[in-house]
Amino acid sequence: MTIYEEIQTALSDLRAQTDIVPRVGLILGSGLGDFASEIEIEASVDYSSLTGFPVSTVPGHVGRFVFGRIGETPVVCMQGRVHYYEGYPMRKVVLPVRLMRAMGAEILFITNASGGIAPGLKAGSLMLIEDQISCFVPSPLIGPNEEKLGTRFPDMSHIYDEELRAIVAATAEEGGVELARGVYCQLTGPQFESPAEIRMLAAMGASCVGMSSACEAIAARHMGMRVVGVSCISNLAAGIAEHPLSHADVVAAADAAAPNFKYLVKNSIAKF
Ligand code: HPA
Repeated sequence: MTIYEEIQTALSDLRAQTDIVPRVGLILGSGLGDFASEIEIEASVDYSSLTGFPVSTVPGHVGRFVFGRIGETPVVCMQGRVHYYEGYPMRKVVLPVRLMRAMGAEILFITNASGGIAPGLKAGSLMLIEDQISCFVPSPLIGPNEEKLGTRFPDMSHIYDEELRAIVAATAEEGGVELARGVYCQLTGPQFESPAEIRMLAAMGASCVGMSSACEAIAARHMGMRVVGVSCISNLAAGIAEHPLSHADVVAAADAAAPNFKYLVKNSIAKF
């Protein structure tokens, strides 16, 4: 099956359950898992009901699309994402993003948790993603290009949309939420990095490091979506932190930052 056919098959399963056309696709990362309780849910679709859809194996990650409105803006939230380290090929990892585009979403709002590298970041900081480093993970565009989705060699000089970033920054300022800015780097994981790897990433210009999002942004740009992203710094990266990293600490810090994170996402999207 081609990627296009894969998307169309999942889309027809979804359209059997809801005909809502979202404007924004929102990926809920760690800390925002219960964001759906903030919006009036108009429909929800389990990933398991969609043919060929990847289902997350990470504890605490549910898997469904939740449809609703934030202000006037119709939104579809991805509650649960799959990661490359779970063993899915990249084309499956980005299928949910491509499906949101196929549903009609024009904007992708990425959220995630990451380890802080740049000076000034601390556990609980929120960072507006200005650019990314994706070259440590395979491109989701490898394989035959689907011209119906996008061009073979898409430009990546403006992955994160300037206008949308300005809205998020203004919203943070209005709410008195401190917002850092920087470069997100994706590694495969699932192991956390070694201190030597973190020194390498720092030298290369990475502000933070995570295991999920750069591939999603590439797939979205390939399909012409406007992309914006905020990362919750859930811990200082290895070697910067004094103690070993644990998934439980990541989840706890992301949960602690959740109120500010929710405020920022909700009030930004209402202006999109
Ligand atoms: N490294 C990679 N991914 C992460 C981290 C980290 O320190 N924290 C949360 N996700």
